[in-house]
Amino acid sequence: MSQISVVSESQSAAGKTAAFGERIVRLADRLATHSESADGLTCVFLSSAHVAVAKDIAALMTAGGLDVKIDAAANVVGRYRSESPQAKTVIVGSHYDTVRDAGKYDGRLGILAALAVAEHLVQNEIRLPYNLEVIAFSEEEGVRYSTSYIGSSAVAGRFDPTLLDRRDANDISLADALHMAGHDPRAIPALARGREDLAGCLEVHIEQGPVLLTENLPVGVVTDIAGNSRILITVEGVAGHAGTVPMALRHDAVAASADITLMVERHCVQTGILGTVGRLFVPNGAINLIPGRCELSLDIRSSDEAVRKAAVRDILSDITHIAERRGVTATFTQVLDAAAVPCSVRLQKALANSISRAGCAVRRLPSGAGHDAVMFSGLTDIGMLFVRCGNGGVSHSPRETVDARDVDFATRILLDVLLNFNYS
Ligand code: HGY
Ligand code: MN
Ligand code: MN
Repeated sequence: MSQISVVSESQSAAGKTAAFGERIVRLADRLATHSESADGLTCVFLSSAHVAVAKDIAALMTAGGLDVKIDAAANVVGRYRSESPQAKTVIVGSHYDTVRDAGKYDGRLGILAALAVAEHLVQNEIRLPYNLEVIAFSEEEGVRYSTSYIGSSAVAGRFDPTLLDRRDANDISLADALHMAGHDPRAIPALARGREDLAGCLEVHIEQGPVLLTENLPVGVVTDIAGNSRILITVEGVAGHAGTVPMALRHDAVAASADITLMVERHCVQTGILGTVGRLFVPNGAINLIPGRCELSLDIRSSDEAVRKAAVRDILSDITHIAERRGVTATFTQVLDAAAVPCSVRLQKALANSISRAGCAVRRLPSGAGHDAVMFSGLTDIGMLFVRCGNGGVSHSPRETVDARDVDFATRILLDVLLNFNYS
């Protein structure tokens, strides 16, 4: 296809109209009205808010002229078919679930940018030599079932059926949650796209960090997505009366968990990887009770697979030593083991060329955050475009913010890449 570049509009448009960007920011506000909490945005997998926002996204895709379906894994899929029957498919999308008290743009920005591009193609009757699938993936954060990528793994044919038995905090299994939302888990395997059908997967996402903001750049090209291990740890000690058990005789589950948390921090600082104890829960805790049980979560990330695996091994061994020393037990359940994946050189180049054509410097950077695109690595080429965030790059927070002009620019880059997509 000829190098139809639409990004030049954004150059003239920058500072004038950011039509795509302003609409996307407005729609992000609209999607954020579907929340489980009265103050702030919380939209976890298959909650009533999650079901409502899926319907809203489906309505937007339908109004935009796409052929829309909400699939058995609660993904919202909008298709813009090619005229050629043998056409391959390019997937563009991101996730619509959120963390608790989330920002409005994590995931949703990528869905709305893809929708804006599809609307533009439909309105201007621009047909593509491939099928375009705009997908709002149902679950990436792993909040409700401590596992990420339920929706994208289903589309990639990598859904783990053993997850159907996993139970949430209210003892509802994933299978039952799907049934209650009107989905049939038995239909999930059929969602898998064949490797031969796919020509690429692109995801636009907020950077969720400070690099583009610090370097005053609107967008960046993602080089690779860090590997991520997530482990749930249960520490069992001996509960007791806070006023009667001498300190030397205690087996305090929280004190042991504090030791563990500080050891994780020390280990990660020394080895240059990222480690987080994000959840620490004392069931039936009380002010005058020595905690007998503490449940904590561990999130380890590195773009170097050997380093990540060694860190998990060493940290779990250190946890065992701490437990022995303190006379408590520690049990582990690994809930995520996502390998680091490279973004395709071809798609990195396509994104970089489009950014250069728009007269903008090209910044390549890794992603420490996980993204749905990882599920398609090894199946097809994956590419990601980061968009600058404000407020120091904060994310997973209501303080998450973007500039409509950056969103507009990113959307035009996405459009340009899709119009010039070398899909052979
Ligand atoms: O945690 C992550 O990397 C992503 O935001 N779910
Ligand atoms: Mn995200
Ligand atoms: Mn996130």
